Parts: sequence; structure tokens; C-alpha cells
Amino acid sequence: MTASQVQTTTATIASAASPQTRRPLVVMDSVSKMFSSGTLALSNMTLTVNGGEFVSLLGPSGCGKSTALRIIAGLGDTSSGTIDWPSSRINSKGLPEGDISFVFQEPTLMPWQTVFGNVYLPLKLRGISKASARNDIMATLATVGLRDFADAYPRELSGGMKMRVSIARALVTKPKLLLMDEPFAALDEITRQKLNDDVLRLWKDTGITVIFVTHSVFESAYLSNRIVVMKARPGRVHADFPLTTSLDRDAHYRTSEEYRQACENVSNMLLEAIGGEEH
Ligand SMILES: Nc1ncnc2c1ncn2[C@@H]1O[C@H](COP(=O)(O)OP(=O)(O)OP(=O)(O)O)[C@@H](O)[C@H]1O
Ligand SMILES: [Mg+2]
Repeated sequence: MTASQVQTTTATIASAASPQTRRPLVVMDSVSKMFSSGTLALSNMTLTVNGGEFVSLLGPSGCGKSTALRIIAGLGDTSSGTIDWPSSRINSKGLPEGDISFVFQEPTLMPWQTVFGNVYLPLKLRGISKASARNDIMATLATVGLRDFADAYPRELSGGMKMRVSIARALVTKPKLLLMDEPFAALDEITRQKLNDDVLRLWKDTGITVIFVTHSVFESAYLSNRIVVMKARPGRVHADFPLTTSLDRDAHYRTSEEYRQACENVSNMLLEAIGGEEH
């Protein structure tokens, strides 16, 4: 199967309500990134992510996934090309104010602050008092199952709980776009699956748009309704296809034929992107 054939192959698992018909939230147009070291991390990367999509971004190590995410978040400049936010109000830095949150692979919590204090940080940076932030913080902690741990310190939490705090900190500002860079890579499989279900529930409940970087074919096929596979040296989009299903994404889906087929499609695309043989 080649990149051009994948649209046809996945049509069998795509529903009529294609996410492609939604309004564009962020548009990367011919973005290139050359670091001062001379590394061309991205070359003419073009990608439109629509409101409400759950997009998984896969590709070989070093193909520019984190660079692309950082550029979308405004954490790095482009060398050429543009990032546009057609449906957002833009601030003086060219970013949609308050609309983007980032979750990294490490939870990066402040050890001297409680769970409450860590989730309060982004609101504190906006000058919101603790008293007026309290309800939003407690509601967000409830959505990640940590309402009873508001007064705990990071050292008292498991790896999965720390990651939930990191997700709560990202969600407390009610962003439109959640960028996640291999958030669960360091966790054991069962915790990872539970957090996958948490993120899916949050996505469904809030209508948030997610761009999720992962190396896991299984994780991407479980979570996303769209897959973007990148190629390396230089980084650019190799394949971009929908991955929708009529089934609920739950334990039953994990053993379904649709899921197996989705995993095979993603896996073949990834093999193609790294220059290997397809199955
Ligand atoms: N700050 C930097 N300065 C110079 N080169 C960089 C910098 N950050 C990334 N690179 C280079 O840019 C390329 C893309 O890196 P990036 O971290 O975006 O890849 P990635 O796809 O996220 O990889 P991984 O899957 O290993 O996380 C790599 O060749 C990397 O060495
Ligand atoms: Mg990376």
C-alpha cells in the first residue's frame, strides 16, 4: 500500500461525517525550519488541522514532530512559511491568545507546590487570584479524577497521576487546541491505556482539538480520527488520512477487526515513511 492508495483503503473505516469538513483551526502553509546548526528540520510542511479533530502525528525519530508542535505553539520561529489561525483572535505575537496548551513527555511539576498549586500556575500567570481560580481548578481536577488529591505534593503521586496533573494544568485555561508530545511514553501499558481513555473522554466532552505526537501505532489507531505520518530528512508530511469508526473506542474496540485494520494501515504508512517494506 502506498500513500496515494491509503485514502481508498481507509474509506472502509471512515464514517460519512468526515472531520475534514470541519472549520480549519490552524493552517501550516509550506513551513520550513532550519536550525542555526544547519539542520533542516522541516521542509515545506503543509498541514491544516480542523476544529474538533484528534490528529496523531507519527514518524521516525528526528523527523521534526516536536519541532512542528513547538512552532504551532509559538515556541519557535519558522524559517519560511506561515502559521494561520483562521477562526481565532490573534494577539501581537501572532498567536491565538489563551487557545493553546502543551503537554510534554515529562509532567514537569513544581515539587514544592501541591497539585492545586501546580494546576493554578497558568491562571496565576494571567493574574487571576487563587480564590477566583478555585472553582475552575477543582472542576478540572475532577475531570482527571484527582479532586481528592488537590493538597497532595507531586512526590506523593504515581507517574500516571503526575501526568493527570500535567493534563489538568493544560486544560484549566480551557484551550481550543491541546498539543501533546509523547505524553504517555514513559508510563506502563495499563496506565497508558487508562490515560488514553481519559483523554478520549475529555476530547468528547469538551470538543477540544488535539494534536498528539506518538511513536505507538496502537495508541494512534485507538485515539485519533486522523493520522498524519511524517518523513525525515527533511521533515514533511508523507501521508494524511482519516481514521473514523462506528464503534465506541473502548476495550471492545481494541479487539475488533476495524482496530486491527487501522493498526495495519498506520503501521504500513510508518514503514513506508522510514523507507522499509510494507507487510
Ligand atoms: N534546538 C535545536 N537545534 C538544532 N537542531 C535541532 C534542535 N531541535 C531539534 N533539532 C533537530 O531537528 C530535527 C528534528 O528534531 P525533532 O525533535 O523535531 O524530531 P522528532 O520527530 O520530535 O524526534 P523524536 O521522535 O526523537 O522526538 C532533528 O534532526 C534534531 O536533531
Ligand atoms: Mg520529539
